[in-house]
Amino acid sequence: MKIILLGPPGAGKGTQAEILSKKLKINTISTGVMLRTAIREKTELGEIAEKYINDGKLVPDDVVVGIVKERLSQPDCENGFILDGFPRTTEQAQALAESGVKIDKALSLEVADETIVERLSGRRECSECGTPYHIKFNPSSAGEKCEKCGGELICRKDDNIDTVKNRIEIYHEKTEPIKAFYEKQGILVVAHGQEKLEDTTKEVFSALGIEEK
Ligand code: AP5
Repeated sequence: MKIILLGPPGAGKGTQAEILSKKLKINTISTGVMLRTAIREKTELGEIAEKYINDGKLVPDDVVVGIVKERLSQPDCENGFILDGFPRTTEQAQALAESGVKIDKALSLEVADETIVERLSGRRECSECGTPYHIKFNPSSAGEKCEKCGGELICRKDDNIDTVKNRIEIYHEKTEPIKAFYEKQGILVVAHGQEKLEDTTKEVFSALGIEEK
């Protein structure tokens, strides 16, 4: 299955991508994780991306489209993938369609703006593998460490209140219009990310036509 996860910052895209990836045994391709890894490793891509991410702005389309196309051309993507955080502009959606990749479903995770700030202030992320947690809603079973790889859990730099406000504004302006792009193709489905994590997952599975067991 080839799935796109759309939604505002903090909607739970990374969290649901992780659950879907385990269930469907396909990889998640998260542009946010790829860009943060590049920043940590101080690569050329990281140098370009850092300023945009820390200001809550989008990294230029040509940069992001390039890394996603390269990743999707790898053999482990042939049988399916979950795209988390891409596309984020109509130009990115068009570039993906023009590259010949056929998407099965674009899932929009809907969450009110007011919920996002609480979500992101309690978010912690593994400094090694990027797995997302929440101190209240989704704590790590390994306490201050990542339950998957033992990495240290940290707050993301772009989760401060001013940057979050910028990210929400940009979502409404640039990313939300993509829903119409996929609706026209008849592949847009919607789930609500407001509820408890388990309830959100149930809605996500149902929207994608996946059996829970
Ligand atoms: P990216 O990393 O993609 O961030 P984002 O889209 O802003 O989304 P988040 O990662 O903040 O949230 P999420 O929806 O994944 O939620 P999560 O599961 O963590 O991008 C970061 C930056 O990189 C961008 O601002 C941009 O600069 C750049 N970038 C990335 N892609 C780009 C692109 N395509 N083009 C240009 N620039 C790009 O959940 C949030 C918290 O809530 C967690 O703590 C979680 O445990 C908790 N939670 C999740 N679900 C629930 C629930 N149902 N109930 C309660 N708590 C929940």
